[in-house]
Amino acid sequence: MHASDVDDRLSHSELVATSFLLIVAGYETTVNLIGNGVLALLRNPAQLAALRADPTGLPTAVEEFLRFESPLNTATTRITTEPVRVGDVEIPAGQLVLVALLGANHDWRQFDAPDRLDVTRATNPHLAFGHGIHHCLGAPLARLEGEIAIGRLLARFGHISLDDNIILRYRGSVLMRGLTALPIRLGEFR
Ligand code: HEM
Repeated sequence: MHASDVDDRLSHSELVATSFLLIVAGYETTVNLIGNGVLALLRNPAQLAALRADPTGLPTAVEEFLRFESPLNTATTRITTEPVRVGDVEIPAGQLVLVALLGANHDWRQFDAPDRLDVTRATNPHLAFGHGIHHCLGAPLARLEGEIAIGRLLARFGHISLDDNIILRYRGSVLMRGLTALPIRLGEFR
């Protein structure tokens, strides 16, 4: 709110727009990165063990969480301003286009065994943060938040497990891929 550049500072409407952006673009997405990442680890105990054995692999693991269960199903909507050819399909001008980021991140032509979680995946050109001029502005912050949250959780608790009696539900959203809640049991290191 106090940021300024010489005599210029954010107007009221710019402040409201920035707050909205931080909450929607910056908060819910990162919540999904953490929730989806923890769920992926709990469903793949060997991968969880591998990450515990080598915590320096956390940045690589976060890239894999972003690919495997991308926090956003799709990019924001696009409208073609001219005919666009994608593979064998020509999209006419004036059409609404939704790019499936999660689908692209499971493309077998890009990723070896895409439906397998591999926290050591060395080559990982995922599209979880989009592509091109609108590539996510907050990607470095989101990566850091994911590393800190998941890293501290694993360092603090020796035992983490899913509650068997809970049915996990995804939010009813085209854009967001995230759970409504992720109830887990936590136990200390012994
Ligand atoms: C894991 C967390 C995040 C994911 C998966 C994510 C994903 C994305 C994606 C896919 C786009 C491109 C949308 C498109 O091209 O239609 C985008 C854009 C953007 N993101 Fe993120 N984001 C995350 C966190 C953040 C954070 C923490 C911030 C800010 C604090 C942020 C700010 C933005 C902004 C400002 C844009 C628009 C960039 C532009 O249009 O030039 N994001 N994000």
